[in-house]
Amino acid sequence: MKRNILITGGAGFIGSHVVRLFVRKYPEYRIVNLDALTYAGNLANLRDIESEPNYIFERGDICDTDAVREIFRKYDIDGVIHLAAESHVDRSIKEPFAFARTNIMGTLTLLQAAREAWNGAWEGKLFYHISTDEVYGALGSEDTPFTEATGYDPHSPYSASKASSDHFVRAFHDTYGLPTIITNCSNNYGPYQFPEKLIPLVINNIRHRKPLPIYGKGENVRDWLYVEEHARAIDLIFHKGKVADTYNIGGGNEWRNIDLVRVIIGVADRLLGNPDGYSEELITFVTDRAGHDLRYAIDSSKLEQELGWKTEVQFEEGIEKTVRWYLDNEEWLDGVTSGDYMKYYDEMYDKR
Ligand code: NAD
Ligand code: DAU
Repeated sequence: MKRNILITGGAGFIGSHVVRLFVRKYPEYRIVNLDALTYAGNLANLRDIESEPNYIFERGDICDTDAVREIFRKYDIDGVIHLAAESHVDRSIKEPFAFARTNIMGTLTLLQAAREAWNGAWEGKLFYHISTDEVYGALGSEDTPFTEATGYDPHSPYSASKASSDHFVRAFHDTYGLPTIITNCSNNYGPYQFPEKLIPLVINNIRHRKPLPIYGKGENVRDWLYVEEHARAIDLIFHKGKVADTYNIGGGNEWRNIDLVRVIIGVADRLLGNPDGYSEELITFVTDRAGHDLRYAIDSSKLEQELGWKTEVQFEEGIEKTVRWYLDNEEWLDGVTSGDYMKYYDEMYDKR
């Protein structure tokens, strides 16, 4: 079956993996990637598929009503996978308005455009919104993992903006009948993640023998999922998920930050040919993140039981692949940390 799928935020970390999977796996689909190319968006993440005939890139802002409407019209969009967002908690503490704008108003703009374009002809249409486990708040160390029934209790401006966008998505289903699905996923790791996030930041700083900043005592816990597993779950849910439903996606793989950083040091030092424990001295405990959630953990049993999903990449394999990828792709890392990659966009758009 032919489909015209709009993927927003496809030049970002998770979005680029989703775009790659869909472009390669479904040559009969037309995949339109709408991305504003903020600091977090990078077309170098998609070099290997950018010339595929079923792939189209559109630079644009999800808050731009006319541009979004035009994309629905021009490409006759029948499915949306919405990933575009401001995604970094620390930035949200400094600039909460940017998060309200993109994550709330941008989502609302897309919902409204989908509603207008589909205009009640819901058959075969789907608006799939990618959300986060952070909307559920923080767990204590003895609490059971978040389920789909856990109440929303966001603490950071980032998670508050994502929670708000989730509410709008549900409201558009309940009020207008728009066919929607929401998934809430745990922390992703893997290639192409912007090195402001813990794992690529630590790998990059090991390369440069710079301090590895650990917030507080490093006791906060996150549940890590290899990014290609998330993309695979999105594919499954996009095609088999139940409209109006919510699915949690998690790694079942909880790590205290300090223990995770020690694992990364072990792998990186081995791959770099350093003596065992060489980079341990770089660990630096710094002031904690404001409102830092203690623990996230996801119960994915609904997705496993209803749609047969299960993780295939074990953490040892995933983290080895990840550290190796960043060490092998120094040009990418140096590009995104130096800002040189912005020149690439400017040149490219000047030529259009
Ligand atoms: P990212 O920051 O790497 O990428 C975000 C992308 O969105 C970038 O390409 C950026 O250019 C684009 N974008 C930002 N503002 C835009 C706008 N106004 N218009 C159009 N494009 C815009 O983010 P990520 O880590 O890949 O996360 C993707 C989605 O998944 C987000 O919705 C995030 O909340 C969610 N999520 C992330 C994780 C994670 O661990 N990274 C886990 C669960 C859910
Ligand atoms: O849980 C899903 C969320 O995971 C996504 O919704 C977010 O978009 C994504 O950014 C991520 O949020 P976190 O805040 O958990 O990720 P981050 O990599 O920023 O931090 C992971 C943990 O490491 C967290 O407890 C804070 C800590 N940390 C982070 C940085 C950047 C440090 O100790 N030092 C650091 O320098």
